[in-house]
Amino acid sequence: MIELEKNLGLANSDWLMSTREKLGLIGLLELLKPKTVLEFGYHRGGATKWLSKYSESLITVDVNEFVGQAEDDFPNVKSWNCPTQEAVKRIKDESLQFDLAIVDADHSRKAVASDVRGLLDHANLILMHDSCNPNCRKGMKDALKNQTSHGYYLDFITSVSKHDGLWGGLGLAYRSENPGLVNEFEGEVSPYPMLALQNAMRLNHKIKSLLSRLNDRIQIFKNKGKVIGGKIRGR
Ligand SMILES: C[S@@+](CC[C@H](N)C(=O)[O-])C[C@H]1O[C@@H](n2cnc3c(N)ncnc32)[C@H](O)[C@@H]1O
Repeated sequence: MIELEKNLGLANSDWLMSTREKLGLIGLLELLKPKTVLEFGYHRGGATKWLSKYSESLITVDVNEFVGQAEDDFPNVKSWNCPTQEAVKRIKDESLQFDLAIVDADHSRKAVASDVRGLLDHANLILMHDSCNPNCRKGMKDALKNQTSHGYYLDFITSVSKHDGLWGGLGLAYRSENPGLVNEFEGEVSPYPMLALQNAMRLNHKIKSLLSRLNDRIQIFKNKGKVIGGKIRGR
């Protein structure tokens, strides 16, 4: 995919999204043309560059001080170097509203839930990265299942099980007259449970191979012990 990304001008190892997520985000930006955007999780500004290009003003938030670089790189960006929960408090205090918010900061269940919950009153459309990660997905559901302002769909862009587990995927929540879980097709079945099962089975495989390597090591030590014991007795 790197070749395709290069051809499309998308290649950037600092942008922590898959090709399909990058294209989904850019397509959405192109059509939405958001005036005000909020980003939780700048990292090295991979997504920030595109959010800035398509919006009038962008606030990007990260605990890492690298986020300060965004103000130098893009004239329409304000960097907030703080935890997202501090940012949520400030957004509430200043009654800020965003056409688009993207959540991709702390990936624990609790943090994802409070980031999404904190933004419901302040964003028309919330994009949520890593909707295929089990903890992130739980956090998204915690925040969205009982709210009454947004429709939500966690399989907007799905992901695949990778060497480091099940990460990626984009979910979205949009202000709606019909809040709650949304399906695109009648009788739709989410790919997520099978994906999670496949990933768990891979983990199982990893544990098995780890145990078998451990067993090999134990055998080697036992054999060495026998040889040394034999030599001592032979003296
Ligand atoms: C996965 S990276 C973001 C990737 C970025 N959105 C991209 O597309 O390249 C997550 C970022 O969130 C930041 N982060 C983690 N916990 C945070 C928190 N509680 N508040 C603010 N930023 C946080 C990390 O410093 C890291 O830069």
